[in-house]
Amino acid sequence: MSQTQRQLRLGAIIQGVSGNMSAWRHPDAVADASINVDYVLDLARKAEQAKIDFLFVADGLYITPQSIPYFLNRFEPITLLSALALVTQKIGLVATLSTSYSEPFTVARQFASLDHLSHGRTGWNVVTSPLEGSAKNFSRATHPEHDERYRVASEYLQVVKGLWDSWEQDAFVRDKASGQFFDADKLHTLNHKGKYFAVQGPLNVGRSPQGRPIVFQAGASEAGKAFAAEAADAIYTRQETIEEARAFREDVRRRLVARGREADDIRVFQGISVIIGDSEEEAEQRYQQTAELVTIDKALEYLGRYFEHHDFSQYALDEPFPEIGGLGENSFRSTTDKIKHNARERGLTLRQAALEEATPRPSFLGSAQQVADGLAEWFLAGATDGFIVRGGTPNAFDDFVEQVIPLLQARGIYRTEYEGDTLRENLGLPEPENQFAAQRGQQIVA
Ligand SMILES: Cc1cc2nc3c(=O)[nH]c(=O)nc-3n(C[C@H](O)[C@H](O)[C@H](O)COP(=O)(O)O)c2cc1C
Repeated sequence: MSQTQRQLRLGAIIQGVSGNMSAWRHPDAVADASINVDYVLDLARKAEQAKIDFLFVADGLYITPQSIPYFLNRFEPITLLSALALVTQKIGLVATLSTSYSEPFTVARQFASLDHLSHGRTGWNVVTSPLEGSAKNFSRATHPEHDERYRVASEYLQVVKGLWDSWEQDAFVRDKASGQFFDADKLHTLNHKGKYFAVQGPLNVGRSPQGRPIVFQAGASEAGKAFAAEAADAIYTRQETIEEARAFREDVRRRLVARGREADDIRVFQGISVIIGDSEEEAEQRYQQTAELVTIDKALEYLGRYFEHHDFSQYALDEPFPEIGGLGENSFRSTTDKIKHNARERGLTLRQAALEEATPRPSFLGSAQQVADGLAEWFLAGATDGFIVRGGTPNAFDDFVEQVIPLLQARGIYRTEYEGDTLRENLGLPEPENQFAAQRGQQIVA
């Protein structure tokens, strides 16, 4: 394998039964997968054997009886990954956690702890919580407005990164002879007083083994991309076509440069689902079998969740997608904009739009060779740095690991051994400076 070949990166999503919202009904499905620790352990081991970069756990903070079944009964991400940290050695562990409904000190501490537990394999998928109802679970009168959520997130990340820099890497000397436990010059108190947060610090956890946990961001609006350029090491996104994906990646990389960062300081991941068969026809049959499990009523509920749990059953199914104004702008804005735009442009009926959302056709469906070729094409065209993969049927992730990854390895674009021990090393991301140590260095030079 050429050592200079840029390497593809892969994440594996842990999302209950793989496939759509009704895939738990599939004959091969483990119906309680979302709360079955043995199922998750098995998936984690398979992913690590396949040298996948990281496991990725999505999350939400509000359910109704109409929510996706998997969302009704599932593990809290940090808790789940703490368990996985102890039975895995190399694979990264990325947890979703919201900046709109948590405190920076607590979250900085949780991720720093998980990073020590896992010897430097943690990532945080920073989300701002799209669902309005989340406010009702956190004693808030209202859900913050979309762009305001990102302004909060921006200050929040400054605080968390400041707290993660509380201690320099070698601050704890623990000299038994002299009685010196730490070097006071290497302890830094943040003293943050901003618009949204007042946090003194320091953090009561030492510096992360990988400098600091890897920051992911999932949100594709203007505000989301600006936030990613400012604060993220990686982005989780979804684009339909190779051209859109390339434009998105280039846009994000340009934004980093405009902020004084290097374009290569970020990894863009396309969220995809895959279905593999011995032939394209077989993969197609597998897709149809899983798609048919979703009734139109369930598809309408699925669609409604993106639009603040709007009741779409009130409209005629075979008429054009209804006119619903700005609904959705304060929740999953980039996703709801896309759904409305797509329905208008292609003249979809409500039935078609709902089924397309609830039973999306994987962009990578076919024989293992076809799927591997498709992934390689996107990667080599500069459309993405990697993929966060989930199975489009309950068995598809196993097929991916067993059949597609070896083909990517044979092409020399995917590792056969982990490069390092930390998630940062494996993603090839630069070691962050401790901001306080860097300031001190500047003062000494001056
Ligand atoms: C690919 C993708 C994955 C996301 N995953 C989550 C998630 O797991 N939990 C969550 O609360 N929000 C998630 N979000 C929502 C975003 O955090 C954000 O709140 C919402 O999309 C609105 O921001 P945007 O308009 O910038 O996309 C995700 C968004 C995208 C695009």
